[in-house]
Amino acid sequence: MKGLILSGGKGTRLYPITFNRAKQLVPVANKPVLFRVIEAIKEAGIDDIGIVIGDTGAEIREAVGHGRRWGVNITYIPQEAPLGLAHAVKISQDFLGDERFVMFLGDNVIQGGISGLIRQFASSTWNSQVVLTEVDQPQHYGVAELDEQGKIKQLIEKPRNPPSNLALVGIYMFDHNVFTAVNAIKPSWRGELEITDAIQWLVENGFAVHPYVHRGWWIDTGKPIDMLEANNRVLAELEHKIEGYIDRDSKVDHLVTIERGAEIINSVIRGPAIIGEDTRIVNSYVGPFTSIFHHTVIEDSEIEHSIVLDHSRIVGIPSRIEDSIIGRDVEISYSPIKPKAYKMTLGDHSRVGLL
Ligand code: TTP
Repeated sequence: MKGLILSGGKGTRLYPITFNRAKQLVPVANKPVLFRVIEAIKEAGIDDIGIVIGDTGAEIREAVGHGRRWGVNITYIPQEAPLGLAHAVKISQDFLGDERFVMFLGDNVIQGGISGLIRQFASSTWNSQVVLTEVDQPQHYGVAELDEQGKIKQLIEKPRNPPSNLALVGIYMFDHNVFTAVNAIKPSWRGELEITDAIQWLVENGFAVHPYVHRGWWIDTGKPIDMLEANNRVLAELEHKIEGYIDRDSKVDHLVTIERGAEIINSVIRGPAIIGEDTRIVNSYVGPFTSIFHHTVIEDSEIEHSIVLDHSRIVGIPSRIEDSIIGRDVEISYSPIKPKAYKMTLGDHSRVGLL
């Protein structure tokens, strides 16, 4: 089998973090979501992976390279615009050929990997397998209606009156018949070739589409709140280890990872949390569910339930920072020099909550 990862798209819901960056490279528990997807596919025994890329393709190529780090072989497939998940399949036909494949959205995180699913599909005669999970608000997702035998009867994108609470998770398996489907369907009202329409076409034309109901957690990291939720889940399940330096005046919980070169000075770190390579935490408190990425400084400040990217500085902030995603190379500091004022340089689409 081959793997296909979708890493194009615009990521508008994660602006400004993804204003000029690939959302698939935003780290969750200090590892980009895309790297977690590659690892899940490799773990399932698949070495030949295509990555569909868009405007942020150069950054993705630079971060992933040929895939040697994971022992996989990566082929990049440029998509001229985000014209839909089924469009991404269509342009990948040369790479996929006649092989069965798994398609994984590059911004999704799933508990427990996909090895079991892949094994099931690889040894089956099904033309497609889709992964479903129970959700609270099915009207926001692609939803499946199953018949009495548990087979897929219908798939509907964001239905006003959902026929079930089973949503499509961003993992799909297909054989070559999907190319007939993606060539047969027309763009939807939003101008995209929808993968739900392609799967519906397979169902209506007598192809075997097998549903698999996933019982663990699954997160589509489309919005900032989802990114923080994915960070919580992954941090809670991480095997934690201490590789950096902790001085005698600091208190660090057992559910904390301190990466290589990081320094914790006179600070309290409550887990689950991760402190990245060469980051310094000085006279500060880092609370549960916080990921501080590489080369960052937190000094005389308190932060909790947040993600901070690399090369940022948070210094002398008098109140605790919570529920925040702080980008790369950001500086937040307190200045005691009069006149007392907030001095900010904020990019487009920034969100700041002040006391
Ligand atoms: P989406 O989250 O549906 O779209 P998006 O990334 O453009 O985000 P937003 O709605 O915030 O603007 O995409 C899911 C995944 O599939 C994501 O990793 C991007 C990728 N994708 C493609 O590679 N090609 C496409 O044509 C589309 C629509 C998405």
